[in-house]
Amino acid sequence: MLSIKHTLFLVSGVSSFIIFYMGLVNFITSVDNSTGLILLIFSIFVAIGTLLATVSISKSITKPIEKLTQNMTKFSKTKKMSNKNKIKTNIKEIFELNENFENMGKTVEKTIEVQKEYVEKLKIMDRKKVEFSSMVSHELKTPLVPILGYVQMLQQEELLGKLNEKQKEAVDEIYLSTKKLERLIGDILTTQKLDLGKLVFDKENINISELLYGIIKEFELETTERKINININLSENLQIFSDKNRINQVFSNLIKNSIGFVSSNTGNITIGAKDSFNDVEFFVQDNGIGISAENQNELFKKFYQVDTSTSRKRGGSGLGLAICKGIVEGLKGKIWVISEENVQTTFFFKIPKKSIKISVPNKLK
Ligand SMILES: Nc1ncnc2c1ncn2[C@@H]1O[C@H](COP(=O)(O)OP(=O)(O)OP(=O)(O)O)[C@@H](O)[C@H]1O
Ligand SMILES: [Mg+2]
Repeated sequence: MLSIKHTLFLVSGVSSFIIFYMGLVNFITSVDNSTGLILLIFSIFVAIGTLLATVSISKSITKPIEKLTQNMTKFSKTKKMSNKNKIKTNIKEIFELNENFENMGKTVEKTIEVQKEYVEKLKIMDRKKVEFSSMVSHELKTPLVPILGYVQMLQQEELLGKLNEKQKEAVDEIYLSTKKLERLIGDILTTQKLDLGKLVFDKENINISELLYGIIKEFELETTERKINININLSENLQIFSDKNRINQVFSNLIKNSIGFVSSNTGNITIGAKDSFNDVEFFVQDNGIGISAENQNELFKKFYQVDTSTSRKRGGSGLGLAICKGIVEGLKGKIWVISEENVQTTFFFKIPKKSIKISVPNKLK
């Protein structure tokens, strides 16, 4: 690409040469030697004058344009107008171009500043909102402790007296509902802690086999009642140095989902783990209704449920998988799903085997 400077020099160079060449030809071919000489000297002066004028015009046009280009490049990188490299010019068009650029730059600078302020305010508001709801959830959880305590005392009849059948049914119902509420508030609190980057992770040596057998024991009652087959697939003896309770919580959420989406009598759930380089890869597989490809991307978002009508029957708030993702990522791992509708769904998650510095994800930062 040609610059203005080079174009000007090319045009004036060619013009000067033509003028000089015409003067020279005229001098050689002219009969009157003195007139020829005068014309040759004149053509030399005109040629030199043209070159000098070009140098001067070039300086007054190209210098400010070069500076303006530099200023624009700098602005596009820094988004800040600089007071250095000020442009001085007497050429009207360049002066106006520079004025327009400076005005536009100041407007952009101001807009960016305002935008930053808004983002900062939004972050503060978001944090306050999470802190407030965290406080509310905490306050809601506190009264549940005595409620559950007294309900359990009522269930053990010898402590607070005998109950008739209807009273027993009512107390059992209160117990189940309170447990559901406790779990929901617990999930909300965990999600808020994850959002605020306040979820604390412990580290200990975990025997994977013990961990898996312990987990399926928690679900024995429910799976036996609904005749759902639950088994473990573990071919090797694995150890991991990580947070046992949190891994348990991830398994618990995934198995609860599987139980909710398989049919009684034919339901089949397999949980397991295998060695995967520096990680242990865990999985929970079921032969339930499955999840369509388009819904698989949304699953790990807070409050997301594929079918709210079945979920209303099944219960649940759509926080389980978001919590799983938060925990797994907090333990420096990864979670994903592979599913075929009405055939099979497998949730996988990988967690590093060795002790690593565990940092908590902070989504609000
Ligand atoms: N194994 C599965 N089979 C089919 N669908 C599933 C399975 N696991 C999750 N889903 C779908 O993903 C949605 C989100 O699951 P998630 O565990 O986050 O919420 P939830 O189970 O509805 O409520 P919560 O876990 O908070 O009690 C579920 O509502 C369901 O639509
Ligand atoms: Mg769930």
